[in-house]
Amino acid sequence: MTIAVLGLNASPRGRESRTLRLVEATLAGARHEGAETDLIDVYSLDIGYCNACTACYATGECVLCDDFPDLFGKMMNADGIVLGAPNYIDSIPAPMKAVFDRMADAVHCRMFSGKYGCSVCTAGGANHGGIVEYMNHALSSFGAITVGGVGVSVGRGLDALSEAEKRANALGRTLVQAVRGEHRYPEQEEYQRERMDYFRQLILWNKNQWTHEYDWYVQNGWIEEDK
Ligand SMILES: Cc1cc2nc3c(=O)[nH]c(=O)nc-3n(C[C@H](O)[C@H](O)[C@H](O)COP(=O)(O)O)c2cc1C
Repeated sequence: MTIAVLGLNASPRGRESRTLRLVEATLAGARHEGAETDLIDVYSLDIGYCNACTACYATGECVLCDDFPDLFGKMMNADGIVLGAPNYIDSIPAPMKAVFDRMADAVHCRMFSGKYGCSVCTAGGANHGGIVEYMNHALSSFGAITVGGVGVSVGRGLDALSEAEKRANALGRTLVQAVRGEHRYPEQEEYQRERMDYFRQLILWNKNQWTHEYDWYVQNGWIEEDK
């Protein structure tokens, strides 16, 4: 079975993006392990802001008409997901956050269950580690197991970026090995079980409104349907 790995980069600088170099190094590592890879430039997409209507909880579909459903479909078809973002004011750039905010239904439904992910970040000065941690936390919130991350400060020159590319390549290899079951993450697996228990209960409390989410849990065998 071919393993599919999808990379997302969220820099407005296109081919000039230093973060792109880390995403591409990660994807190269994944290909070295036999995966097929694809790369998406988040800034090239039209992604609107979540308006908190919660229609997705009931229907599984968003009321906004833009590029999000196509992007989400590609993420759902991937076994491994690589998130890349530069540090913007000690956080991620707004378009990546807009993507995350469109995924509350994916959080409830643990839609990345069975997927693996990792994150990479470049910063001019500092806090790349905090950004990597945040993006990995988001992947975990969607149900994925995270295998690590690479962050680097490029303020003093690009030598550090070359060294970080090597770490990113190794990260991509680890990602594919994890998909193949060659690494175990027992603490994260336990955390994911706890989150599913929490959201199962939340969905049962709201099952009359959140019908799509209830159906999703039933279809996946995570809730026994009321007879
Ligand atoms: C709007 C903006 C905000 C930034 N904020 C920070 C910051 O808070 N801390 C930091 O270390 N670098 C900051 N930077 C620098 C970028 O993180 C850095 O140049 C990064 O490598 C750019 O990545 P890219 O080449 O992939 O776009 C900022 C850059 C921009 C344009």
